[in-house]
Amino acid sequence: MTKTIYVLNGPNLNLLGLREPEIYGSDTLDDIAGMLEDRALELGLTIDMRQTNHEGMLVDWLHEAQAESARAVLLNAAAYTHTSIALLDAIKAITTPVIEVHLSDPKTRESFRHLSYVGMAAVRTIEGHGADSYRIALEAVASGEV
Ligand code: DQA
Repeated sequence: MTKTIYVLNGPNLNLLGLREPEIYGSDTLDDIAGMLEDRALELGLTIDMRQTNHEGMLVDWLHEAQAESARAVLLNAAAYTHTSIALLDAIKAITTPVIEVHLSDPKTRESFRHLSYVGMAAVRTIEGHGADSYRIALEAVASGEV
């Protein structure tokens, strides 16, 4: 197993900072990547941060995480969280642990966000802490909890 943690981000997260800041905060995805890289360095880990608006790309990257012996995946699948059986199957198809991450807490929002296909297969869900959700997930991997 390598020291690399894949941090995979789904649709519309490229617009973080501009997109509904009252819900998602003012940090951009690059800000979050920088914060995670610094924290990962302190923890002796490496981050591979990516974003796509395409569902199949997330599936391919999950397969790649397994093929490349990633330590874990932090996955914010954004809206695909609530729709994608393909992502559920991909997480089940790999042995790499996947932590579901959300900036907001979807369970306290519209009812269509209460269902999470990602959460059905993820080893843990960390949500509702803004950008800190990613940091908390990273620290869970570093501590060996995941
Ligand atoms: C999100 C929550 C999802 O419901 C939403 O579709 C997103 C972002 C979050 O990080 O809070 O795009 O995953």
